[in-house]
Amino acid sequence: MTPPEPPDAGAVEPEAAGSAAPASQGGEPRGNSQPLLQCSEVVAGYGATNILHGVSLAVNRGEVVTIIGPNGSGKSTLMKAIAGLVRVRSGRVSFRDADVSHFPPQRIVREGLCYVPQVANVFPTLSIRENLEMGGFIRRGGSEERIQEMFRMFPDLGRRPNQQAGSLSGGQRQMLAIGRALMVEPTLLILDEPTAGLAPAIMHSTFEMLQDINRGGVSLLLVEQNTREALMMSDRGYVLAVGENRLEDKGSALLDHPELEMLYLGA
Ligand SMILES: Nc1ncnc2c1ncn2[C@@H]1O[C@H](COP(=O)(O)OP(=O)(O)OP(=O)(O)O)[C@@H](O)[C@H]1O
Ligand SMILES: [Mg+2]
Repeated sequence: MTPPEPPDAGAVEPEAAGSAAPASQGGEPRGNSQPLLQCSEVVAGYGATNILHGVSLAVNRGEVVTIIGPNGSGKSTLMKAIAGLVRVRSGRVSFRDADVSHFPPQRIVREGLCYVPQVANVFPTLSIRENLEMGGFIRRGGSEERIQEMFRMFPDLGRRPNQQAGSLSGGQRQMLAIGRALMVEPTLLILDEPTAGLAPAIMHSTFEMLQDINRGGVSLLLVEQNTREALMMSDRGYVLAVGENRLEDKGSALLDHPELEMLYLGA
């Protein structure tokens, strides 16, 4: 099956098919002192320009962590650097004790870290079921059982398995993108603006769905513009500005931080 318009980034890469050990399971306990993900002084960019000038962050096992920051501050670049889609020029990305800074994207997925980009995160000309099958490509021993689990988790998708992904509503499409990533049973899911462009009611249900996924044992790293809702459900948050760490605190504490408004107003 060769989809004409592949998603821009790889929760799944067809060439990874059959070559992988099963992805790691979620469900790891909170409170292990060693972070699950650790970015240390990450420098990355495009061409001659560095966008990230030494960004550091951590996600502990079981946590929900949100990155916020003004437009162009490098949030998406950081997500791509973690996922292996933008080269880490210096510094280090560690995941489950391995230095994954220079791993190819498919190998990072196999380690249990899945990235859901903001756009182009499903194959629009394929059906819901086919998208999930693509998501499960690196699974050993077939995907059918996991697909059925996804249909139970997202009944809205289960009711229409043969519908083309391109004809789904924004919320359904986001659900499918997340379901696709969950096919490999990741330990950490990183999502770039999962609620962008969604109507308020759908945005709320998407956040609730993400909380359910987290309660099921999957750690989450989000980039969000819906800062209030995201920080309310986050254990911790980071604020990036011009490719540098600006603030870091508990989610609830960041919400009330006086500097936040200034940053967003560009002051
Ligand atoms: N492929 C690319 N090539 C060159 N420059 C890029 C590329 N992608 C992003 N940039 C630049 O890198 C900077 C940071 O972009 P990035 O998308 O990481 O920011 P962001 O914080 O995610 O912004 P937004 O809130 O708008 O999504 C911007 O100046 C952007 O123009
Ligand atoms: Mg972005």
